[in-house]
Amino acid sequence: IIEDVRVRKILDSRGNPTVEVDVLTWNGFGRAAAPSGASTGIREVTAFPEGGVDKIISEVEDVISSELIGMDAEDLNDIDMVLKEIDGTDNLSSLGGNTIVAVSMATAKAAAASYNLPLYKFLGGITKNEIPYPLGNMINGGAHAGKNAPDIQEFLVLPVGAENITEAVFANSSVHKKIGSLIKAKDSTFTGGKGDEGGWAPNLTNEEALSIQAKACEEVGDELGIEIKPCLDMAASEMWDGSKYVYEREGVSRDIGEQIDFVKEIIDTYNMFYVEDPIQEGDFEAFAELTRKSGDKCLICGDDLFVTNAEILQEGIDVGAANSIIIKPNQIGTLSDTYATVKLAKANGYVPVVSHRSGETTDETIAHLAVGFASPIIKTGALGGERIAKLNELIRIEEEMINPKMADI
Ligand code: PGA
Ligand code: ZN
Repeated sequence: IIEDVRVRKILDSRGNPTVEVDVLTWNGFGRAAAPSGASTGIREVTAFPEGGVDKIISEVEDVISSELIGMDAEDLNDIDMVLKEIDGTDNLSSLGGNTIVAVSMATAKAAAASYNLPLYKFLGGITKNEIPYPLGNMINGGAHAGKNAPDIQEFLVLPVGAENITEAVFANSSVHKKIGSLIKAKDSTFTGGKGDEGGWAPNLTNEEALSIQAKACEEVGDELGIEIKPCLDMAASEMWDGSKYVYEREGVSRDIGEQIDFVKEIIDTYNMFYVEDPIQEGDFEAFAELTRKSGDKCLICGDDLFVTNAEILQEGIDVGAANSIIIKPNQIGTLSDTYATVKLAKANGYVPVVSHRSGETTDETIAHLAVGFASPIIKTGALGGERIAKLNELIRIEEEMINPKMADI
């Protein structure tokens, strides 16, 4: 039974305010914080009402506690319904989707704690196989870095050959180091700057970044004796000007057909394992065409396209838009809606990828969600305190799974 709800303003990794929520039950406690995006999808719920965190922080705690106190933290669906009712808008713009998601996740953690369980177990993750592989961010461009960085937003890697999460996490950090030294070798003026998600932010073209990424995957893969695959997030909505894709740094524009060909060629040339948002969020048709052409060898993932929304995912499933979906709880606002989207994805063969946002906190909840939802991949950076908070939590979770007695203490 919920006894108290506390909402406070804390810092995110970009130095902006966000909310953290504590939920107290008579025998449990849960804490969660909301992240925030920079390249957000237009159909996401609203993070905060006009005026931001400061606008709501003084009254939101009273408004929410007066409804939630006395409810059972275990009744997550009911709690999420009540939160949406208090908000009263379709896009959660009154309390803010970020406020609601933090309450929703903190409540789930409090419910888990009252059974003396970590959240991942409470949600159902029990076998070692369900530890996700970490998709690590290596080079940042687009909206996550300065204007001389590549136009493509994220160059990522997935250590598919790693035996366990510890090996996978350290493989990613080795690739990150290797890429840093390859960038320095190419550009002696590089000062070591990084973007919002901890990847390097170099003065490179897309082509140069792609070839450094490929070289690092190969060399580190050989050194460690495991396969490491290159992946991308193109965040193409950011490049779309309404009629074409504008690659600002390169001074090139591509129409829809050229964009599809360009992405297909990158997939073929570099053996891309995963490409996220290769097409802008309003174009299910072009997404479907790319998926028909490349979906047999590459995960074509929708982030801004689906915004973790089951109804929008269903539109995509109907036309074969993709074969993978990014799962960001604060795009949809509640844990129960997030889970509904994961279930729909799995039922239709879409690989769910639980993901951080570019603005993060040290909250580790998404590590538990990825394990609990049995998501095969988690996208949560490679370096930076707010990124390693999740990666280190996965290492702990794996340890508990291998030594189940530890988890029972
Ligand atoms: P965002 O971007 O968190 O800035 O929206 C991350 C992504 O596009 O995956
Ligand atoms: Zn994305």
